[in-house]
Order: sequence, then structure tokens, then C-alpha cells
Amino acid sequence: MNNFSRRKFLSSVALTGAAAALLPEVASTQSLLGVVRPTVVISSGNGLAAVDKAMRMIEQGSDALDAVIAGVNLVEDDPNDMTVGYGGLPNEDGIVELDASVMHGPTHRAGAVASLRNIKNPSLVAKMVMERTDHVLLVGEGALQFAKMHGFKEEDLLTEESRNMWVKWKEHLSTEDDYLPPHSIDDKNIGSKFHEVMHTNGTINCLGKDRNGNISGVTTTSGLAYKIPGRVGDSPIIGAGLYVDNEVGGAGSTGRGEANLTCCSSVLIVEFMRQGKSPEEACFMACKRIVEYTKMKRLLTDDGKPKFNVTFYAINKRGEHGCVSLFSGGSYCLHDGKQNKKFDPAYLYKRS
Ligand code: GLY
Repeated sequence: MNNFSRRKFLSSVALTGAAAALLPEVASTQSLLGVVRPTVVISSGNGLAAVDKAMRMIEQGSDALDAVIAGVNLVEDDPNDMTVGYGGLPNEDGIVELDASVMHGPTHRAGAVASLRNIKNPSLVAKMVMERTDHVLLVGEGALQFAKMHGFKEEDLLTEESRNMWVKWKEHLSTEDDYLPPHSIDDKNIGSKFHEVMHTNGTINCLGKDRNGNISGVTTTSGLAYKIPGRVGDSPIIGAGLYVDNEVGGAGSTGRGEANLTCCSSVLIVEFMRQGKSPEEACFMACKRIVEYTKMKRLLTDDGKPKFNVTFYAINKRGEHGCVSLFSGGSYCLHDGKQNKKFDPAYLYKRS
């Protein structure tokens, strides 16, 4: 965090415990970006192409929502991103279930789908829910029927790579079940805790402010890898994985959805910005709230830090941005109208 924003942050937040002790570790890129631009697009670290596409559309006069959705469609279509859309890691039964939400600032409308199978662009279905129903959220079979009604084509979203990852996970899940990984006649220790490191929460969140000053956002994901079928994270929940108030700003998230669902961090970040906090300060406050509200010992290390990560992204009406994670590492993408670059998020804790 630069000196100015760090000073403002310290004066505006009562930091306690480990978070306060670790503030000197906090890093920021805001100051590197110079003057504030009228247009801005931010995304999670897997969104460099998405941000580029969205900004090109915005510079050509597109509405921010159309632009950010077109951007994340590139990631949904990309078989190499195993956390979003086609090629996303499946549930425990090997079936890909996708979640997405969109929110349009100027009309304050939203749409979302959850546990959607066989449709690779859930963000487009979410937009269709917003535009062509009286509802905000459709799930499961109903969401699929609705998508098909509007001409979305069903397809198998599992790639050879994601299917192989799922099989590997299943074969290493337990030494007590009947699935075995490839092994030799001499192997004694078949199976392992492989699944503990394989439970990933990748996602893309993308927020944009267009040339009319309007703000919109989208969050889209295949959710937690190898999840219980029907598990829904924060991404399709308006107020948790995404929230936009056109008069204030927008916020979104990636990471452990369960931690965010019980804090409704995106709406919280927007409300902090409404109270005058910068996007970065607001994201810090949301991170701190997650730490404070994580009380289950199974989710905490011995020194009281969460065992998971969450990252928040935010922009405000002035085109300022913030991105803060619980832990260092990772990246986010920002196009300020001049350049498209990856940056390191600010963070509460340095990853050891
Ligand atoms: N944040 C994405 C998920 O937990 O599903």
C-alpha cells in the first residue's frame, strides 16, 4: 500500500492481532498507475485476454457489461483454464457444474445461474436470466432447460486433461476404496492425501467502467474442484461473488466461496466505498472481516490464520481500483485505458 492509502487505511480501520502486525508487509500497485483514467477494467490473474478484449470494446463505445462478458467468454471457452467454463474441473462424479453472475450498474439488474451443466458460457445464460426473466437466479436442471430454450447448445465440458485430473483425484482419494492409480507389483502405499492439494477454487471476476461512467461486472467459475454435486459457491450469489452500485462502484471475488458466502463481501466492499473508503481500503476491510469470522479451528492454522485464500477486486466511480488477498502470491489484471498488465495483489499475510 502506498504511504497515503496506508495512512488512510490505518486511520479508518481498527486493525487487530495478526492483521495489524502484518500490515508493513502489504504491497500495492495503485501508485504505479499514475493518474486516474476514466475507463478501467480489472480481473483476476487468469483474465489478461479478457481484460484486453473488454477494454477494446469499451474504447469502441460498448456498455461495460457487454464488454466484461465478452472478455470472460474467452476464458470460459479456453480448455486450458481448468477453473472456468469448458475444461473446468468437474464435481466428484466427473460432471462439470458451472456458476456465474452478472450485474449491470446503470439498470441495477442482475442475473445468475448455478450448478449449470453442459453449457460452456454460463455468463451468457446469466445475462439471459437478467434480460428475459422476472428472476435473478436459476439453478441446475431449470437453468439448463432455460438455456436450451434460448438456443444455447449442450456439449460435454470435460476435456481429456480435466477427465484425467478427476480420475487421478479419485484414484488417490482413499486407500480404503477400490480405485487404484497406476502402480507396480511392489508398491505398498497406494493412494494418498492427493485430494487435499487438489481442491482448488479458481474463478474469473471481471469489473469494468465504460466511457459513459457506467460500471458492470461478471463472475464465472467451475467452482470447487471435485465438489459434492450441487455445491454452489459465492460466484453466482449477488452480494457475495459480485455486486455493483453504479453510483459507487463494483466488487467481486475469487477463492474459497464458503468464506465469502457467510460475509457477503462484495456488497460489503461497495458499502465501505460508499462510506468513502478507497477500493483497496474496502477490499482490505473485507479480508479482515473474513479473518475475524473464520472461527472453525479446522479452517485455521496453529497461529490463527485461515488455511484458505480469498481475493477481492474492486473499482469505484472515479476509476480507482483495488485488489487484496488474504495471502501474498497470485496476480490480477488491470487495463487503465492505456496499458494492460498483471500486478501483485496487496495482502494481509505473507505466505510462508
Ligand atoms: N469462489 C468460487 C467458488 O468457491 O466456487
